[in-house]
Amino acid sequence: MPVLTLMPSGKTAEVPSGTVLLSTILASGEKLGCTCGGTGGCEASHVFVLEGRKSLSKAERPEHATLDGLVGVSSKSRLACQAKMGEEDVTIEILSFM
Ligand code: FES
Repeated sequence: MPVLTLMPSGKTAEVPSGTVLLSTILASGEKLGCTCGGTGGCEASHVFVLEGRKSLSKAERPEHATLDGLVGVSSKSRLACQAKMGEEDVTIEILSFM
């Protein structure tokens, strides 16, 4: 089963393919301050994908629209509430601690 690593804490979890990253992040005890219910509208789940980006599900139009409005977006940016785990290990950096 692929492993999701959360930085900067270094926590790891085995995550079934197809699982939304946000659910694993919250289950690990990390706090993101999400207020949109995981619909991609609050920007709180903005993360950088450090490794394994190609393993994640493709970003859809609503995610792109949200990311386009954020400060500090890079080619590593994804919304953890929209990205789903694939078959390979992934490392992300959590950007917002609330
Ligand atoms: S949970 Fe609100 S943007 Fe992802």
